[in-house]
Amino acid sequence: MILALETSCDETAAAVLDGDDLRASVVASQAELHARYGGVVPEVASRRHLELVVPVAREALTRAGARLQDVERVAVTQGPGLIGALLVGLSAAKALAWARRRPLVPVDHLRGHVASLHLPPDPVWPPFLCLLATGGHTLLLEVREPASFSVLGTTLDDAAGEAFDKGARLLGLGYPGGAAIDGLAREGDAEAFAFPVARVGGLDFSFSGLKTALLYTVRDLGAEEAEARKADLAASYQRAIVRALVERARAAAERTGLERLAVVGGVAANSELRASLPDAAFAPLALCTDNAAMIASAARFTDPVPYPDYLSLDAYA
Ligand code: KG4
Ligand code: ZN
Repeated sequence: MILALETSCDETAAAVLDGDDLRASVVASQAELHARYGGVVPEVASRRHLELVVPVAREALTRAGARLQDVERVAVTQGPGLIGALLVGLSAAKALAWARRRPLVPVDHLRGHVASLHLPPDPVWPPFLCLLATGGHTLLLEVREPASFSVLGTTLDDAAGEAFDKGARLLGLGYPGGAAIDGLAREGDAEAFAFPVARVGGLDFSFSGLKTALLYTVRDLGAEEAEARKADLAASYQRAIVRALVERARAAAERTGLERLAVVGGVAANSELRASLPDAAFAPLALCTDNAAMIASAARFTDPVPYPDYLSLDAYA
């Protein structure tokens, strides 16, 4: 039985995984706390994690019907993420493991996203091609072993989720913006504006030009007209991001010969992306955005550090 903690950004999460039985997954989102600043404020996030990490871990154990002494391994996100936020989870996990003389499993957050696919109800196992699209990363990965990968392509500037968030901000939709654009786009015409899909070499991505194109379009329209056409702008902008992701994923499939494509990370929750890749496997909706179930899942395929050697472990930003 694994108890996992995840505190890399603005979600405080804990999960209990027993074999492949996900007994509990608790996510306390801080999104509302950061919304008024238009983005995550690292120090505010760290302090909130500190308040939430024990109640969230306790809630996960309660929902799982387990006690701390039932936990065989404690897993935790070691990085990448906000360093102060990570340290809260890592310190809490060390304390929990140390108190029971259990091993600790440090987990890479990106491997965690990939491992969200290895959970019920429809687990996906390697080999497959994986599109990982979050607020911090946009990666095309070749996955040959569980929770492990080699990188085929990455973004040269903004991540796909970041492009959604920045676009939402330009349209006055608040933070985080991906889900807001997704919702508004349903009422708009995706062909109304022709936003560019950047063409960069290899299997890499670039989203900064798209964001600038939206900025200029909004400016040229003027405040009133931009407000009136907000749904069209959201739909066209989303179409450009989705098109870039789909094109590159298809090119990677051709290049690697990998027949199966899987999509993970917060942007995998996007309804247009899901509809545009009908043959792809998507992580379950609840496991697309940050959660601890995926960290527990990856921990099954990561070497544990024995008691008490992990006390000197550090997080990486
Ligand atoms: O994986 P995640 O929770 O955190 C990171 O590891 O970054 O991803 C968060 C990102 C945010 O940028 C958010 O706007 C985006 O995922 N996102 C979406 C949707 N839901 C969340 N983007 C597009 N459509 C959505 N429905
Ligand atoms: Zn993430």
